[in-house]
Amino acid sequence: MQNLMFTGEQPFDTMTNTMRPEDAVRWFGIAPPDLSLISRSRGTDYIYTFLRSFYEEPSSPTGVDNLLLPNTAMPQVLWELQGVNRAVFEVDEAHGGQEVFRGFEQVIPGELTAQQYDRVVRDIVNFLDYIGDPTQLARGALGVRVIAFLLVFLVIAYLLKQQIWKDVR
Ligand code: HEM
Repeated sequence: MQNLMFTGEQPFDTMTNTMRPEDAVRWFGIAPPDLSLISRSRGTDYIYTFLRSFYEEPSSPTGVDNLLLPNTAMPQVLWELQGVNRAVFEVDEAHGGQEVFRGFEQVIPGELTAQQYDRVVRDIVNFLDYIGDPTQLARGALGVRVIAFLLVFLVIAYLLKQQIWKDVR
């Protein structure tokens, strides 16, 4: 609170998106999804792979495309870290002459190695996973205590039942 919160916000306040949806539609043709819920709607594996699947596509307005979301409107915002990749497609005769993805080739190196970039993406995805459900850890801890209470209560209920029924044959 001392170092990051200067305008009287509270820790439970929501973040305000600085990009207005109508501006986003004007610029990109579509508004970006709410990233605070994206891990719950798409899953962490999807976002991890999405952020690693951008490749150079000169015909696209953003200069990139994505293997997971073809014709995506999202620019590769992490290109300085990752560099620029080219996607290699090959015609596969066994699949009726379809183009099949064969891998990425780096065209321009980024500031990070491939492994370092994967770690950055992993951190981003973990963060998105956390903010998708921030009380998950607290809920887990509470669950253990509830189960412990129920177990103790089971013993008490059993002893009580023995006591009440002991004269009934
Ligand atoms: C590290 C930051 C970011 C992350 C983790 C992220 C992640 C994502 C994800 C997971 C999607 C959904 C893809 C899908 O629906 O399958 C998405 C869509 C999109 N993002 Fe981002 N994004 C980031 C930054 C940005 C920025 C800075 C912009 C704009 C300058 C942007 C523009 C968009 C747009 C326009 C879409 C919609 C794409 C479409 O449906 O074609 N994103 N983003």
